[in-house]
This record gives sequence, C-alpha cells and structure tokens, in this order.
Amino acid sequence: MTASGSPPVAPARAYAQDLDAADPLAPFRERFAIGDPDVIYLCGNSLGRQPRAAVEHIERAMQEWAKELVEGWQHWLDLPTHVGDLMAGPILGAGPGQVIVSDSTSVNLYKLAMAARTAVPGRPVVVTDAGEFPTDRYVLEGLGDRRLITSDPVAGPTVDDVTQALDDHVGVVCLSQVGYRSSALADMADITAAVHDAGALMLWDLSHSAGCFPVALDRHGVDLAVGCTYKYLCAGPGAPAFLFVRTEVQDRLRQPIWGWFGQRDQFAMGERYDPAPDARQFLVGTPSVIGLAGVQAGVEVVAEAGVAAIRGKALTLGALGVQLHRAWLAGRGFSLGSPPEGVHRGSHLSLCHADAQRIHAELAGSGRVITDFRFPNTIRLGLAPLTTRFVDVWDAFDRLRALSY
Ligand SMILES: Cc1ncc(COP(=O)(O)O)c(C=O)c1O
Repeated sequence: MTASGSPPVAPARAYAQDLDAADPLAPFRERFAIGDPDVIYLCGNSLGRQPRAAVEHIERAMQEWAKELVEGWQHWLDLPTHVGDLMAGPILGAGPGQVIVSDSTSVNLYKLAMAARTAVPGRPVVVTDAGEFPTDRYVLEGLGDRRLITSDPVAGPTVDDVTQALDDHVGVVCLSQVGYRSSALADMADITAAVHDAGALMLWDLSHSAGCFPVALDRHGVDLAVGCTYKYLCAGPGAPAFLFVRTEVQDRLRQPIWGWFGQRDQFAMGERYDPAPDARQFLVGTPSVIGLAGVQAGVEVVAEAGVAAIRGKALTLGALGVQLHRAWLAGRGFSLGSPPEGVHRGSHLSLCHADAQRIHAELAGSGRVITDFRFPNTIRLGLAPLTTRFVDVWDAFDRLRALSY
C-alpha cells in the first residue's frame, strides 16, 4: 500500500519494452537456443539456457575424439586447469593457477571442507547456515562436528550471525554468497575478514553468484570456493563444477581423495601418492572432456558480456519484479521471499504463498511460465540477465496475477 492506502501502480508493459530497447545486453539472447517463443523461461538460476556456441564446442570435442582417439589426451589432460584459468579472472576475480574445473560441486565441497578442517589443527568444528543448500549441509554434517547458524530466512547470514558462531574450535566456515532460496547476498568481504580474525578458513559456495555477480575472490582474500557451472554459466546439465584454492593456502591443504590426476608426476605411476604442489592436487580422476567443452562455451559468452554489465541488468530486472509484486500480488497472499533491495539480492526473486505448489504448477501449465518451486511455500523466478527480457518479467507477473488464488 502507498501512504494514501491504495496499492502502488504497476508500470505499463511499454515501460518494460523501453527497457529492452535500451538494454546493451539484449543482443546476447540471440546467442542462445530459445525453443518455444511463447514459453517464458525463468529457471536460469537452476539450469541456464543453451549457448549456441556450446554445440560448436561440443561438436569440436566429438571430432577430436573421432580423429585423435587416445592421442587426444595430449591436450585434454590440461583442460581442467585451462578452463579454470579461463574463468578465474573474468568470472571469479581470481588470478591464474587457483581454479580447476572438475567433479561436482558436492564432491568439491567435500574435498575442500575436509582439507581445510585438517589444515587447522585442534579446530574440528565446521560452521554453516541452517538454511544452506541441502548438499552443503549434508556434506558438512558428514564431516562430524558441524555447527549451524540460524540466520533470517529472507536476509540470510550476517557478519554478526557468523561472529557469534566463531570460537577457537572452529576451523572452517562455509556459506553461499547468494542463498539458493531467498537470493540473499552475503557480505563476502566482512564475513571473510571476521572468519580470518578468528583464525579459521573461509569456504564460499558460489553456485548462485558465478556468472551473474562480480565475484572478487582475490580482493577479499577468500581461501576456498566451489560452485556449479550449469546455472548462470550455462555449461549444460551436469557440467563439471569448479573449485578455487588461494595460492597461499595450496601448500597447507591436503585433499582427502587421493587420485592419480592429483599426483605430482601422474605418468610415473609411482608407488605412493605424492600430491602436486599446486591446484592440480585438487583433481581426482579422468575429467569429462565433453562437459568441459560446455563449460568453456558458457564461460566465454559470460566473459564477453561481462559480469559487471550482467549484474547491472540483474538489478533492473529484479527491481521490475519487486514493483510488479507490490502492485499486483502483495495483497493476494503473496510475500516477497527475497530482500527487497537489489543490492542485498542475487539474480533470482522468490515469492512465498501458502498455496505456492499449486500456483507454480498452474503457472507452468496454463501460464506457460517455467519457474521452480521450493518446498514448502516458495516460487523462485530466475532472472538470468543474458537471456531474460524485461517484457518476460512483465508478462510472467501478468500471467501469474491472472491465476486464481
Ligand atoms: C548452493 C548450491 N550448492 C550446490 C548445488 C549442487 O551441487 P551438485 O552440482 O553437486 O549437485 C546447488 C544446486 O542447485 C546449489 O544451489
């Protein structure tokens, strides 16, 4: 409601059209497979659309396989570090030699959390948030001494929440930079500094920020990070994940899965495990060459657009969504499940409703708007800036308000 008691007025569709006309990133939508033009896809926070270049990259890898057969390993062997370096600067704000692309986010999280915990002797406790993504909570639960923060479900973990959980038993703190449910954006700089002041290591999950937010790992002195590539990096379903280990801590860490790709001299076939002295230590086994081709395609298109420009558009897309929610939905049982101010939010917007599961299904069915539902009451609208138009947001809210609830 406004001060006069009447609901705020929604911007007209023409306003969204004007924003699209002025959008410098608009041409990037052509670089992706779109499919049915009447379906509005707001799920790029779960699985990004397919870059057309992915087909070429994967086709090239297929041809290499056909022609080179096992000789292909001469250059495929370096792909995890090569693609890691490609994404390090433009996507993660990290210098070379610190990022590798391999395995899944869950496996990478296990490798890094376990390595960090054993690197800080006498500090077995791992801190995370009770609202963290399930795989993070489960992996850390499996390590034993897990301590949970209970942060505000919409605002996410604050520096104070984290500080209160720290003591000299804590060896590592693991949090998402952008919360999977609410989209809350955590304060990477201050939280990392607080964790360091307490003598622990900081491990960030960047699954919901890599590719849509200017992550600055080196600038904030982050020790460790993991994240997936199939959301805003558009690398394809099940594409390999990334991990980051700050150069200064690489020597101190020993990851728990001792595979031959982490071996210093891999083809000497030595009797004992002797880990590589650099980020290669965090590799385990044979990488997916096809998967890495998808990651390269996604990283290249995101890097070309630039994460600063992507973030700028995400803020305007989100602001439009918040405005439409206030005008059309707030009085009808919906509440915002995300921070209302863009600076405190990632690229998706969450709406809560007691009947969210049914509404989500109807929105996909008759509404032809693809979102996702998170139990028990949350509909997430993924506003992936490279492929979402302002009219998509306007039309999605228009179709949502037309449903009965
Ligand atoms: C924060 C976060 N971490 C991890 C994952 C997924 O991990 P994995 O790729 O290992 O399934 C997700 C998937 O949505 C996620 O949102």
